[in-house]
Amino acid sequence: MTTQERLSMPLGEAIFSQRAIRRVRPDPIPEEDLQHILEAAIHAPNGGNQQPWHFIVLRDPEVKAKFATLYEEAWWAKRKDEGINGPQDIAPGKGSQQSAMRLSKEIGQAPVIVLLCATRLGAGAAGSIIPAAQNLLLAARAVGVGGTITTLHAVVDERARQLFGVPENGQIVYALPLGYPKGSFGSTSRKPLSEVVSYDRW
Ligand SMILES: Cc1cc2nc3c(=O)[nH]c(=O)nc-3n(C[C@H](O)[C@H](O)[C@H](O)COP(=O)(O)O)c2cc1C
Repeated sequence: MTTQERLSMPLGEAIFSQRAIRRVRPDPIPEEDLQHILEAAIHAPNGGNQQPWHFIVLRDPEVKAKFATLYEEAWWAKRKDEGINGPQDIAPGKGSQQSAMRLSKEIGQAPVIVLLCATRLGAGAAGSIIPAAQNLLLAARAVGVGGTITTLHAVVDERARQLFGVPENGQIVYALPLGYPKGSFGSTSRKPLSEVVSYDRW
């Protein structure tokens, strides 16, 4: 089966039901589907078609555990930058922050974590990773796999580079944990068009 055939879910259904999935089952993702998901990622728009990307697929439990330790430290470092010093500063009503905090502990349990890297430093190359990440998430949605975009933090950058052998000119832009959702895919809540669109000037 070709990737195009496998990703036959209607585009509207994929876009409108793809949301941040942070709780996933440990069940493995079939190799074929993983290849389809990555194939979709490398067909994304990118600057000058230079395809300045490299994907590191983490599947080995020991490697994922090492990543998870760095991720949890990075997650709290980002919160500290926002003045949040611990779980006591995250209100129970803050659903997505609670769920992101849980992910910071559980990310290593995802069957697959894809590190979306740029092969050059700087924002230009990193910008080419953004469409690839969205293609990847939509393709994952089409085969029933959930995930979410996450980032690291400067505090763990050097150790992450060492751990994964990222070359001097490369950078880890996003880490996407992937797996079959414990809950369900669903609708997202966004500001209405009337608030965020204008015509001919801001
Ligand atoms: C650039 C970027 C960085 C993100 N970083 C994180 C992260 O570190 N941890 C996390 O759990 N979610 C992260 N997210 C996911 C967002 O929280 C999520 O897309 C947003 O809350 C909307 O969620 P929804 O699509 O389920 O409505 C990130 C998303 C983007 C686009």
